[in-house]
Formats: sequence, structure tokens, C-alpha cells
Amino acid sequence: EKIPLEMHKVRIIQKLNLLPVEERLKAMKEAGFNTFLLQNKDVFLDMLTDSGVNAMSDRQQAAMLEADDSYAGSASFTRLEKTIQEIFRKKYFLPAHQGRACENILSTTFVRPGTYVPMNYHFTTTHAHITKNGGKVVEVFTDEALKLNSDHPFKGNIDIKKLINLIQEVGAENIPFVRMEAGTNLIGGQPFSLENLREVRKVCDEYGIKLVLDASLLQDNLYFIKQREDECQNMTIREITWQISDLCDIIYFSARKLGFARGGGIITDSEEDMRAMREYVTLYEGFLTYGGMSVREIEAIAIGLEETMDEEMINQGPLFIEYMTNELLKKGVPVVTPPGGLGCHINAMEFLPHVPQHEYPAGALAAAIYIASGVRGMERGTMSEARDENGVENLANMELVRLAVPRRVFTLSQIQYVIDRVSWLYENRHIIEGLKYVDEPKVLRFFVGKLDAL
Ligand code: F0G
Repeated sequence: EKIPLEMHKVRIIQKLNLLPVEERLKAMKEAGFNTFLLQNKDVFLDMLTDSGVNAMSDRQQAAMLEADDSYAGSASFTRLEKTIQEIFRKKYFLPAHQGRACENILSTTFVRPGTYVPMNYHFTTTHAHITKNGGKVVEVFTDEALKLNSDHPFKGNIDIKKLINLIQEVGAENIPFVRMEAGTNLIGGQPFSLENLREVRKVCDEYGIKLVLDASLLQDNLYFIKQREDECQNMTIREITWQISDLCDIIYFSARKLGFARGGGIITDSEEDMRAMREYVTLYEGFLTYGGMSVREIEAIAIGLEETMDEEMINQGPLFIEYMTNELLKKGVPVVTPPGGLGCHINAMEFLPHVPQHEYPAGALAAAIYIASGVRGMERGTMSEARDENGVENLANMELVRLAVPRRVFTLSQIQYVIDRVSWLYENRHIIEGLKYVDEPKVLRFFVGKLDAL
């Protein structure tokens, strides 16, 4: 049997609390059947997200003690800058407090009203920043992307034909940049291939358009390229990173995901672009040598990025997710395939065929998983969409429950517990009913809205 093996051991622990089922039911009711509103103390395994909750290494914690606190010219920043220059082979690094701050800077600098930003798939915050600046997001994914069950190794690829058609239709001058997202989040943490990125670069060169990489989930994407792409099998993670970086004009990342810490930043070789974006760093984030991050986190990111170049440090997430996905499949539970990074994604529409989409099957399932197990997942479906201007529901492309696997945090027995509880719930799925909003905010309703059983 293929046992996913951690190449690290646990040396600091946090006590967990598993409430009895009656108390979990009470907590879920109080949270308005919205997993975002649960208190962490009431959660057994927190699989809401991998953002800012990955485990640090001994080396990261040691480096944090040496952090150099200063407003300007911090030695911690210089260390991070140097690490980034080595890993990405680019000159400039602009710090920011997290991923969406980078998106704010990028969109404010480059996106104008009436422009179009093609991408493999949107992320919620990316979409918000581009549209806030008057741009329109156009997704040019391949036909595989939305297939919940597929054996395509690179569902995150851009469809080159669709990209060229769009450029010809709207004109290259109306495209500030093409955005490629590593480990494509909203379709289940699915990677792009190096070959595809190369083709996208070719098109960008031909039409004189910038290529921007969202590297927030790069570590998973690197691992999958190494595992799944023939030409990369004998390359090191570092070499693959260089190749990817060489193809991109601008790279930005959320260090809440990439680098096992918290923060973010933008990387480029272009002095002109750096200067244009730099103004917004000082305006929105802070001085250029911290950008809203604590120096301790800056130290941790520098070490975390180095660790990201080690295949044995980045394989744990994908290996555990693969195990979880395959075991759930064996028990007949509908999950997204092939397994991606970030987490295991359950297809709620197939899990709960008796709950129609406007009754939020993914929201109902996320709530039920918590009640049945104390595990907190995240709804990624219609509950997370906004109504249209007439108040009509915008039905999502997919109804998913994401069970995120924060890196280096959970053990295999904890993953087995999740598999056991979710399979039990699947066998008893008839007990799960749909939900309706009873307190529905107008903007980003899924964060703080409350629901109730129908
Ligand atoms: N880009 C991607 C691909 C992301 O997954 C995220 C965050 C961001 C940008 C924004 O970064 O949170 O540091 O501002 N994803 C988190 C999640 C929130 O739970 O999937 P941020």
C-alpha cells in the first residue's frame, strides 16, 4: 500500500478539543450554519483554509528570534530580498501585507476602465480588485477545467486558442496583463504545466502583453509539474522554479500560503514596472523594507521559501490530499479528481442530489460535516456567490465543500478520521436538509451571513 510519509516530525503541539455531538450541533446553530462563524475552540480539525495556518519549521522559528526591527533598512528584509532574488532570478521585490494587497497594487497600477484581464481562473479577491478598477475578468480555461472528474494532469492550463481569440477581439492594447494562477484555487487546487506556461508566454510576446503569475499556490504546482510533466522529471524544484520565473514578467504571492508564514509581495525584473507599483506600496502597505509585514514573519518567509525548494518539504500536502481523495472515492464519496493541492474537494451536488442548488447543498454539507465530526470545511458554491441586481440567485458552476489541508499540520490518523466521518455522513446523507439565509449581507454574504434549516 502507498502510505504518504511525512519527512518531518512534530516538535511543538497544540491541544485539540473534540466537543460531543450535541454541543457541536448547538455551536453550528449559533453560528447560523455558517462555518466561518464558528469559534476555533469549538473546532476539532480546522480545514477551513490553508491560509496563514501552515506549520512552521524549527529553522523558521529560530530565524524569527533574530529578526531585525527597524522601519527602514531592516536586515531581515535584506535577507528575504536576497532569497527571492536567488529563487526567482529577478532583481526587485516589493513587500505587501498579504496576497490581496499585491492584487490591489497590481490592479491600481495597470488595470483601467474598459480593459480585459484574461486568466486561467479567477480568485475571489483578484476578481474584486480588477473589477474595482474598471477591468473585466475573462477566464480562458480549457474544457477540462470545470469537469469535476477527469484524469487530466493539468486542469489549470490556459486554452491558447481562446486566449488568442480574445486578444484579437478586444485588442492587445486593452489587455494590461495575462494572469496565470498557480495551483488554481477555485477549481480544486489544480496545476498548470510548464509547457502551457511557455505557450502562454509565446502569445504574450507576439502581442506585447505582460504575463503575471499568482504564485500563492506555487509550491503545489511545482510538485505536480515535477511529478506529472515528463520533461521535468529530472529537474530539481529550484530549476523548475527558475524556468517558470523566467517566463513571467511579474510574480506576486500570498505568503500566507507560499513560504509557510504570513505576508506577501511582488517580484519583477522591470525597473519601470517596479517604480510604477512602488508608489502604492508606500501609500497602502508601509515602507519598502517591510510593506505591512512584521520583521519576524519576514524572517520566517525567507526560510520558508528556501524550504519550498525541497521536494520533501512540499510533498506532504499533495500526498495527504491524494490519499484522502482516493480513500473517499473507494467509499463512493463524490470528490474532485485528479487530486489537487490545497485540499480535498467534495462534490456536494452529487453528495446531496435531494438538495436543489438554491438551497445551498455545499453550505448544508459543510455544516453537516462539522456536526458529524467537528471538522470545519468551507463552502465553495452558490452560498458564496452574490445575487444579481434583481435579487435572483446566481447559481455557481460547482457546489464544492473544500476540506483544506494546511501544510505540515495534520497527521495521517487525523486524515483517516475525516475520511471515516465523511463516509459515514455519505451513507446517511438523507438526514441532511437544505438551508436558507435568515440574515443575508449584500456584499460577500458568505463571510458573516446566517442561515437556518428550511
Ligand atoms: N490568490 C490566491 C490563489 C489565493 O488562494 C488567495 C487566498 C489570494 C490570492 C489572496 O491572498 O488571502 O493573502 O490576501 N486564498 C485564501 C483561501 C484566502 O482560503 O483560499 P490573501
